[in-house]
Amino acid sequence: MKRISLVHEAHKAVQTVLQAGDYTIDATVGNGHDTLFLARQVGPGGIVFGFDIQQSAIDQTRCRLEQGKVDTPVELFRVSHAEMTNIIPMQFHGRIKAVMFNLGYLPGGDKLLITRTDTTIAALNQALRMLAPDGLLTILAYPGHPCGDQEADEVDKWCAGLEGSRHDKSCINSQENQTSTPRLYLVRPI
Ligand SMILES: C[S@@+](CC[C@H](N)C(=O)[O-])C[C@H]1O[C@@H](n2cnc3c(N)ncnc32)[C@H](O)[C@@H]1O
Repeated sequence: MKRISLVHEAHKAVQTVLQAGDYTIDATVGNGHDTLFLARQVGPGGIVFGFDIQQSAIDQTRCRLEQGKVDTPVELFRVSHAEMTNIIPMQFHGRIKAVMFNLGYLPGGDKLLITRTDTTIAALNQALRMLAPDGLLTILAYPGHPCGDQEADEVDKWCAGLEGSRHDKSCINSQENQTSTPRLYLVRPI
C-alpha cells in the first residue's frame, strides 16, 4: 500500500504560504529538520522561533543550522510550546505565517519524553492566535501507541471543533483507509 511522507507534505504546504522575510514557529524542534527547512524558506530577513523541552534537541538543532549555513535569525527556547504566547514578543503575535508541530518523541532520544495532550492542545490554541490571517498551522500526529492514540484523538477533536466558517481544515493520512497511521492536519484561517 502506498505510504505518503507526511513531513514532505507538511513542507510542501508550508512552502505555498511562505515568502522571504516571514516569521515562523517550529513548535517541536527535535532534530532540527523542520527548523532548518523554515530558516531556508524565510531567509535572513525572516525569523524562526523554535521550542523543545529537551536540551539535546536544542543542541542538535543548533548544530544542524550551523551545518546548513543559514543566516536566518533562529531563536531557540528550551521551553514547552505551551509557553509560546509568553515567550514570543507581542509584536509578532498575529503575524506568524507558519507554525509547525511534529508530535511524539525525539527520534533517537528518550521515548518517554513525548508531547502530551494537555500541553499540545494548549499550544495549538496559542498557535492559532499567533497566525497571520494568511498563515498556516501544520500538525503531524502519531497514533499507534497509547499516548499517541490519545493525543491524536484529541487533536482530531480540536480540529473538528474549529469553526468551519473561520478555518479551512484538512487531514492527510500516511496510508489510505488506515486510522492508526500517522496523520497530518493543515489548518488555515479564512
Ligand atoms: C517528533 S520530534 C520533532 C521532530 C522535529 N520537528 C524535526 O524536524 O526533527 C518531537 C519533539 O517534541 C518535543 N517536545 C515534547 N514535548 C514538548 C513540549 N511541551 N514543547 C515543545 N517540544 C516538546 C520532544 O522533545 C521532541 O524533540
